[in-house]
Amino acid sequence: MTEIEYLSHSAFAIRNDGKEVLIDPFLSDNPKAPASALEVRPDLILVTHAHHDHLGDALDLSKRFGCPVLSVVEVSDRLEELGAKVVPGNIGGEIAFPFCRVKVYPAVHTSSFDDGRYGGAPCSFLVRMGGKAVYHAGDTALFGDLALVREEAEIDAALLPVGGVYTMGIRDAVKAMRLLGAKRMVPMHYDTWDAISVAPDEMRRASAGEGFELCILAPGERLRL
Ligand code: NI
Ligand code: MN
Repeated sequence: MTEIEYLSHSAFAIRNDGKEVLIDPFLSDNPKAPASALEVRPDLILVTHAHHDHLGDALDLSKRFGCPVLSVVEVSDRLEELGAKVVPGNIGGEIAFPFCRVKVYPAVHTSSFDDGRYGGAPCSFLVRMGGKAVYHAGDTALFGDLALVREEAEIDAALLPVGGVYTMGIRDAVKAMRLLGAKRMVPMHYDTWDAISVAPDEMRRASAGEGFELCILAPGERLRL
């Protein structure tokens, strides 16, 4: 049974058979992080880009649990310098682990560390675990090559930003769903701050009749795939 837990903002845990993949672990500085964020036990951490609301606690968690971080090379190199364990990878690559397989896709966005250092190109991830495929889009804008992810896998859940301002908003997320052909959309990157608030009704209206299941998860809520 593969399950995803929404840890608020763009942070998710994907779990199967006692293993946990943690994506964009913005937890300790996150005003919306649920209590369950304290209980993460990652075996692998994926980071879509260097912005602080995605890099989050990746360094601390890697050190604490001895688990590797997969990102683009500019992010991995920086984390490794600071003492994290990392695995090599970059956009276009597919990396196999004993409990999952991760393909790194582009995202249309920017990436820099808090001190202004360039973070390389931002990315997104297709994670295959326990026979399910989950696509985490990172902080992307809408772009046509999302259609290429569909050729790779039947996506059980697409985790898409909907907050606008910094990423695509809900209407573009619905267009992204047409390109991805995913069964379910899980909205992310909204309501963390006022600037990116989105009402559930607006998401439901935008998704009506589109042929996918809209799964709005509260922070700490889990979804079985
Ligand atoms: Ni960002
Ligand atoms: Mn962000």
